[in-house]
Amino acid sequence: MRRKIVAGNWKMHGTLAENEARLSQLVLELKSRDACDVAVFPSAPYLFQCQNLLANSIVMWGAQNVSQHPSGAYTGEISTAMLADFGCQYALIGHSERRELFHETDQDTAQKFAVVLEAGLKPMLCVGETLDQRESGDTMVVINRQIDAVLASVGIAGFTNAVIAYEPVWAIGTGKTATPEQAQEVHGAIRQQLAQHDAVIAESLQILYGGSVKPDNAEAIFAQPDVDGALVGGASLNPTDFIKICNAAG
Ligand code: 13P
Repeated sequence: MRRKIVAGNWKMHGTLAENEARLSQLVLELKSRDACDVAVFPSAPYLFQCQNLLANSIVMWGAQNVSQHPSGAYTGEISTAMLADFGCQYALIGHSERRELFHETDQDTAQKFAVVLEAGLKPMLCVGETLDQRESGDTMVVINRQIDAVLASVGIAGFTNAVIAYEPVWAIGTGKTATPEQAQEVHGAIRQQLAQHDAVIAESLQILYGGSVKPDNAEAIFAQPDVDGALVGGASLNPTDFIKICNAAG
């Protein structure tokens, strides 16, 4: 039985004061719960704040991005060792905003996935299609390619300690979620793709859905057999809504 994860991607939002209020509420209200894993992804300057406020809680934290280089003259970049220094358990890899706005390629994401694993952290690999790609019938062509790039870099064993987040680009920040059936169809196909390499790893891999997850649609999405939680954007900025989504996960 796979454990569910509810993760909040805060994107480029938050201040020390706002984060403190948000994190304190999460710690307090999720204190005695152990039904699912919970993680937050703040902007990098606030990882230290997470380390301080979340260290003795059930809430884990991670970074929204990481460099594929170990150290050196890479102005503005952050290494996996730095993330480990601040107690991160996860790093998001290949979010569609990184792919689209910052031109990250499948090869970049594959390299980042590899260095995150090497540092002992869990990569949370984001994959997903644009509306055009869906309408042209290319959803799984795109996702298979995104995953194949990572398989070519780390092999199927690399997915033993990783998470995939299926985030259809057309559902991100649009209020338009995939239907539970659309999510299940893609999640099932991702699991099948990986099962061709190793059925046991594929069966234990957590596959999250992301894209306009809210308290009122989470339960139906979580009820799908291959959906193992959510990567939540906008609704994760409101701790009351985020906690409701955690409660929907079990
Ligand atoms: P929204 O929940 O705001 O659609 O964002 C999803 C997302 O991009 C999470 O990484």
